[in-house]
Amino acid sequence: MANQDRSFHILLTGANGFVASHILSILLDRGYAVTATVRSKEKAADIIKTHPSWEGKVQFVIVADFTAAKPFDELFINANAPFTHIIHTASPLNFGVKDIQKEMIEPAVRGTTEILKSAHHYGGLTLKRFVLLGSAVSVLNSFEDITREGRPYTEKDWNPVTAEEAIARKDTVLGYNVSKTRAESAAWEFMKTESPGFDLTVINPDIIIGPMIHPISGPKSINETNHFAIASFIDGTHQQIEGVAFPFYHFVDVRDVARSHVDALTNPSASGQRILLISGLISPQLVVNIIRKNFPTLRAKVPEGNPSQVLPPGVHPTGWDMRLSLDILSKGTREQSWKYIDLETSVTDTVRSMIEAKVI
Ligand SMILES: NC(=O)c1ccc[n+]([C@@H]2O[C@H](COP(=O)([O-])OP(=O)(O)OC[C@H]3O[C@@H](n4cnc5c(N)ncnc54)[C@H](OP(=O)(O)O)[C@@H]3O)[C@@H](O)[C@H]2O)c1
Repeated sequence: MANQDRSFHILLTGANGFVASHILSILLDRGYAVTATVRSKEKAADIIKTHPSWEGKVQFVIVADFTAAKPFDELFINANAPFTHIIHTASPLNFGVKDIQKEMIEPAVRGTTEILKSAHHYGGLTLKRFVLLGSAVSVLNSFEDITREGRPYTEKDWNPVTAEEAIARKDTVLGYNVSKTRAESAAWEFMKTESPGFDLTVINPDIIIGPMIHPISGPKSINETNHFAIASFIDGTHQQIEGVAFPFYHFVDVRDVARSHVDALTNPSASGQRILLISGLISPQLVVNIIRKNFPTLRAKVPEGNPSQVLPPGVHPTGWDMRLSLDILSKGTREQSWKYIDLETSVTDTVRSMIEAKVI
């Protein structure tokens, strides 16, 4: 769907990331002018090495440290043309951190509030919308009783988890949940107190899996969620399924996440909304069933588990009431209907991309 509307100038943060690479691909496909941030020149060069056809179509800007003073001001001041829309995806997603406060919560929150402040001061009248890549973890309750299904979550729910709880338990998954919850609530608070000239849309996906088009240099470049949800059942991390738990039991494909962000730029119904993005259930057993069925040559490496025991014993995840979000997503498409990529397609395409990239 080439748009060729060069009057759109999109600022995309964290362009080398797993999700942002797909967003950038669609933005360029639709003919938008794009300025993209990465943390170093080398990371920009890696993107172009991975996608030579993108050379000259995207302008890279280095924003190395979100916790620096006014990290985004210069970017706005020096922009060759004013931005019309912002998609902010950059945020820490690495569960291997030592300092939850400094390495997860602070960069996530400051990254969001600082870019909002710069956008407000320098964005001018041309800046129409800020699309924030949030997370389902700022909606769900980290402390929900997983042994019984609760009331389905809606766009009105907020995770009650606190930084103190995550830090006291030294739990980096909780720390990530806090980082996303605090960053998103700070964004809504900013909109309320500052009333900037642009509006805000937040997209809240659950576990994102899918084919990788970001720069890859060996197995360590597999992004965090594709690793724990898929690659870890192939690379020997898990010899059995019994006892393996996921932090959450719903997923969405990265291509749907990317499409939802780009659609949200121009969808009037997305203004001021939180949009839940959930395709369906995911579990260790469901993932291995799909890999073993579709990749006979990998079967010997992938534990069989108990194919009919779809969820771990005693796990009854709370569902999602998607009606409002689905309505908004549909209105953002040309066809006026939104269809999610299913788990089997998502897992098989992901494994295929891992085989092609020689990382499993
Ligand atoms: N993957 C999921 O399941 C999932 C689900 C819901 C929401 N999300 C959200 O989606 C976004 C992207 O996730 P992803 O899976 O694409 O992760 P990713 O591949 O790790 O990408 C994260 C991006 O953020 C940048 N970043 C991380 N910490 C930063 C910091 N302190 N300062 C500046 N940039 C920083 C990274 O830069 P470097 O590469 O240079 O480190 C990278 O460009 C995040 O906001 C995440 O919370 C992800």
